[in-house]
Amino acid sequence: MKELIGPFSQIITMANLPERGAISDNSLEIIEEGGVVIEKGKIIEVGDFLLLRKKNLSIREINFPCVLLPGFIDSHTHVCHYGNRSDEYAKRNSGISYQQILEEGGGIHNTMNSTSNCTDEQLRDDTLYRLKRHFHEGVLTCEVKSGYAPNLEDEVRMLKIINKIDSSNEIDLIPTCLAAHVTPKKYESSKQYLDSILNELLPQIKKQNLSDRVDIFIEEKAFSVTEASNFLEKVRSDFFVTAHANQFTSGGLKVGVDNGAVSVDHLEVITDHEIDYLSKSNTTGVVLPGCSIGLGIPFAPARKLLDNNCKVSIASDWNPGSAPMGDLLMQASLLGSIEKLSNAEVLAGITCRSANALSLEDRGSLENGKIADMIGFGTNDFRDILYNQGKLKPSLICKRGKFYN
Ligand code: NIG
Ligand code: FE
Repeated sequence: MKELIGPFSQIITMANLPERGAISDNSLEIIEEGGVVIEKGKIIEVGDFLLLRKKNLSIREINFPCVLLPGFIDSHTHVCHYGNRSDEYAKRNSGISYQQILEEGGGIHNTMNSTSNCTDEQLRDDTLYRLKRHFHEGVLTCEVKSGYAPNLEDEVRMLKIINKIDSSNEIDLIPTCLAAHVTPKKYESSKQYLDSILNELLPQIKKQNLSDRVDIFIEEKAFSVTEASNFLEKVRSDFFVTAHANQFTSGGLKVGVDNGAVSVDHLEVITDHEIDYLSKSNTTGVVLPGCSIGLGIPFAPARKLLDNNCKVSIASDWNPGSAPMGDLLMQASLLGSIEKLSNAEVLAGITCRSANALSLEDRGSLENGKIADMIGFGTNDFRDILYNQGKLKPSLICKRGKFYN
């Protein structure tokens, strides 16, 4: 059955925006006093509410000021984990670096231990708790990485739990295999571990259809540029490739781009030459302000990336180490203020441009044929959303045509 929803004070469709580069707010399509017609979970018309009302459809009336946007898409998270690392956060704030903690066997290893030692129910419940919070804050699609497993069996376990949550809950998940996060302690060498991922794990993941994306952490304390190159070369024919690159040192970006990565994520440390290289590629740069806030390191230069015509998505990186906050809208708003991004650039970074980074064509904008993933904010001016720096939360949530409030 067709249903007309509205009137909305403004509908910001995020349609017809460029995939890359700077965008001014003037490029946004804004429908004042708009309505959306949906049928079977999809959008079939977006336009002037009064005109749409003449079609005599059943109406879901919106009787408060409301600005409608596409549901947010978080293109990079590690929400599937157990345990917390507030002890390490305190240590870092007393001057010990993230890398040093990792080198001493803490950091990611710490969460590998707690995640492998909890029950499936504990891991599922904690993950679901974070995803429900995300959902009510407007994130209707979320990428979720594995990568906290000290062995391959536990990697499969993580991906199975992520897939199960995806199929039994409203939020849509995009599972990514990040077995190549750091080499677990039981392996003799990183080479031995990467070989076992290639020969034993990835065939299983493919066969059981657990993920079509593979990530690797390219960094001095994780996997080197050469190791990552050899690894991704073998992975790229069977999986979408993505990489944690340029978080503390340069170099990973080129490996990702050369291997056709859909995205290279982090980019806090990046040279002009690398920005140029990224801009000439089809790869999206995913910037992670929550990680900069969590680690107290500079933000990725989002302004410069956009001015150089790169593709830029903004994601939360929600994880227990570098990015414990997990509030995508707040982080994107702060990035906008510090990096001088337009409303359009920030909002595109968490909607249409994130969809592009995840190769999702059915969402990210409010247009005919897209799924009815929509969020409404209680105001009549879309600029209030980022102005409130994450404190204005959605008061209306519609996932595939179904309303949750
Ligand atoms: O994106 N840098 C690597 N991975 C995560 C952090 C994981 C962790 O510290 O648990 C990141 O920052
Ligand atoms: Fe990450």
